[in-house]
Amino acid sequence: MWQSHEFNHGPKESIIPQHSITTIMILEALIAMSWFVICDAWWIAALTIAIPLTVMLFFSKTFRSSFFAWFFVYIIGPIFQPRTIAPRRKAFQILKDSIADRDKKVPLEVLEIGVAEGPNLQFYPENCNLTVLDKNKFFESYYAQNAKKFPHISYQRTVIQPAENMSDIADSSLDVVISTYLHCSCDDSLAVLKEVRRVLKPGGKYVFLEHVCYPENEFGLSIQQFINPIWFLFFNGCTLDRNTASKIKRAGFSEVICDKYISPEFMMYLVRHQIIGVATK
Ligand SMILES: C[S@@+](CC[C@H](N)C(=O)[O-])C[C@H]1O[C@@H](n2cnc3c(N)ncnc32)[C@H](O)[C@@H]1O
Repeated sequence: MWQSHEFNHGPKESIIPQHSITTIMILEALIAMSWFVICDAWWIAALTIAIPLTVMLFFSKTFRSSFFAWFFVYIIGPIFQPRTIAPRRKAFQILKDSIADRDKKVPLEVLEIGVAEGPNLQFYPENCNLTVLDKNKFFESYYAQNAKKFPHISYQRTVIQPAENMSDIADSSLDVVISTYLHCSCDDSLAVLKEVRRVLKPGGKYVFLEHVCYPENEFGLSIQQFINPIWFLFFNGCTLDRNTASKIKRAGFSEVICDKYISPEFMMYLVRHQIIGVATK
């Protein structure tokens, strides 16, 4: 079963006065033009003043992974993480709601895939046995440092493996798998989803939060496609224009509930369209 809901979209168009619609359209056009200029500047910088960095990112996967871990924690994190609190809260609320009727005395066995430095740790409920997995080993020390701040979680282990092949995780061993902003940089989302189904217990929940492509008729999609090659290098394989919702829908879960979320933040323009939801094995 596939359900789709709108989340937090504000007032319906029909009750917005015409002059406000015009103002919103002008504002949207200005924001899109600003981002077009920013992306132009990024391309120019990447091919001129920053060319040594661009070349190293292009030719060395190891350099790209270590650069990304540092860049994500120290440069992107302070900009991105505060602006993702609302959708993360929503994802963890969905998690709490979907396990509301379980015996709370029994620890919840959870796996987070693509954990990075652990920006979700603050949202975990009490009584979780948490295993984390990431393919980028350069996040491990940042994660270990960050995890000390959240003693309410019982940490099981850190697995350095691609989610496409989680051979260290046993079949049907988890109540919940969670991932946030992962599928944008997976090599093969369908393989990841197959693995998620394998490691979940029957009836287990997969909670997801992802940034996705703009709708086809929107200028934002062209900007996503224009900056994608440079973005891919600086964000270690992240691709802006993926349609992850359709992949989760086709992955063989018994039920998928998926909400849309559109970030109102200027700084989130390129990753503004997001999906939040839960899939049941
Ligand atoms: C954009 S970051 C998001 C980090 C964090 N989950 C968050 O919500 O901010 C993507 C993370 O997923 C990891 N990742 C991407 N593809 C992966 C894969 N196939 N297997 C495991 N980890 C992956 C990356 O190494 C990185 O840590």
